[in-house]
Amino acid sequence: MDIRSEGDLARAVGSIQHVTTSLYGLVNSAALPQPAGTAFPLTGQSTVAWADLLTTNVTGQWLTCRAAMPLLSHGDGFRILFLSSFAGWASTSGFGPYNISKSALNTLGASFAAECATRYSGKDIQINVLVPGEARTEMNQGSTESPYSVVSMVLVLLSHPPAGPNGYFFNRDGRHLAFAYTQEYPQPLLAVR
Ligand SMILES: NC(=O)c1ccc[n+]([C@@H]2O[C@H](COP(=O)([O-])OP(=O)(O)OC[C@H]3O[C@@H](n4cnc5c(N)ncnc54)[C@H](OP(=O)(O)O)[C@@H]3O)[C@@H](O)[C@H]2O)c1
Repeated sequence: MDIRSEGDLARAVGSIQHVTTSLYGLVNSAALPQPAGTAFPLTGQSTVAWADLLTTNVTGQWLTCRAAMPLLSHGDGFRILFLSSFAGWASTSGFGPYNISKSALNTLGASFAAECATRYSGKDIQINVLVPGEARTEMNQGSTESPYSVVSMVLVLLSHPPAGPNGYFFNRDGRHLAFAYTQEYPQPLLAVR
């Protein structure tokens, strides 16, 4: 499916509804890298390329969460992860639009967590942002790190017991991060055995 398409998302949710009435976890991973073409995108990139990046890396994540919410909110609680990047904290020349998309994604994750905590108070909700770090994938073919290096933190955050972090930021190595007004999560993370 294309996460920019509300129709595609509705069909995906419909497919899940064939097998279950509730959904426990959602990992927002899809993203586009900074497109090649100019070393100076903030002064030289087209509005089409800008819209493509922001629509995929931010709007698509929001649409996915919103489409999945009826299934997620059906049970006693749920987990959502947003895969961000240190680009969301960075101002590297040549990567401005990508940096902006990840910074906006950080804010989307924290704001989504705050809104859901209010709207679904009483449920066990943990919505957090995870920085996967460098890994050799389609997006980053120069890296020598394994994409599986993020998996253990994804599983810890998806399976964290009730009363865990909501609206916090983590690195794949377990570090707790601060972003804007959100300070580091003050507790150790727990993993279900
Ligand atoms: N790899 C790194 O070094 C690194 C570092 C920091 C953060 N991250 C973040 O980690 C996450 C995963 O990245 P990755 O390295 O696995 O990137 P990747 O190999 O480029 O994979 C990105 C995935 O997103 C999908 N996608 C793109 N646009 C989509 C859309 N409109 N609808 C549905 N799917 C779409 C792609 O699907 P198709 O192949 O079908 O287009 C692809 O499967 C991203 O959020 C990325 O920003 C990666």
